[in-house]
Amino acid sequence: MVPQSKVTSANHVAIIMDGNGRWAQQRGRPRLFGHQAGARRVREIVEACPDLGVEYLTIFAFSTENWKRTQSEVAGLMSLFRRYIAKEMQSFMRMGVCVRFIGDRVRLDEKLRQLMDDVEHLTRNNGRTNLTIALNYGGRDEVARATQRLAREVASGKLSPDAVDETTLARFLDTCLLPDPDLVIRTSGEARISNFLLWQSAYAEYEFIDTLWPDFTADVFAQVLSQFGRRERRFGADVA
Ligand code: IPE
Ligand code: IPE
Ligand code: MG
Repeated sequence: MVPQSKVTSANHVAIIMDGNGRWAQQRGRPRLFGHQAGARRVREIVEACPDLGVEYLTIFAFSTENWKRTQSEVAGLMSLFRRYIAKEMQSFMRMGVCVRFIGDRVRLDEKLRQLMDDVEHLTRNNGRTNLTIALNYGGRDEVARATQRLAREVASGKLSPDAVDETTLARFLDTCLLPDPDLVIRTSGEARISNFLLWQSAYAEYEFIDTLWPDFTADVFAQVLSQFGRRERRFGADVA
């Protein structure tokens, strides 16, 4: 048991929002019904962040591997993302949320990319909660894209290969403006990370919980965070 004085809050929480499909299946409904319920859940979780001491929240919405799903599910998700951003624009302003996206935008359609730019621009001066949405995001893809940009700087003579260290590489990642996550939560009972924040989670704590994402309430969130607060993090050092 960690003494009360050592109970800490998680400054950056990252969530793998999994289980929408199974939630819908349990109700005999199409997968997209589950994705819609999942999207509705996000506002409550973002709203709970300030009181729970969470300054940064990063959510995994669509992975670089999710293109393997049926064309109709992918199209439904892309349309949901467009409607979601347009609909939530004002609530992000009301809640003081600064929105950013990580992932490769190149493969996303023009209309969605425009909405992503708009919401980033509109909310850029908000500072209450930093919400990062991972859309067409894959950890390996991110490191590969970062390496490509870094290699270009080396090739052009702007950067010396000898100067490349962990900090240099981190500057080229999509997450360059974010602290590393303290806690990664995955819902739906799967105990894997599915290519999420591979580099950034080197010292994150993990919580794998059985709740399906559409059932993940602010109360469940608070419970998971209180468990995190009792963990002892060492970062490779000896026991204090
Ligand atoms: C997570 O829910 C949302 C996305 C990956 C887009 P799933 O769609 O993976 O739900 P399950 O895992 O099939 O239940
Ligand atoms: C991870 O969930 C991606 C998102 C939550 C967006 P998946 O459902 O795609 O992961 P796997 O396929 O079970 O590993
Ligand atoms: Mg899944």
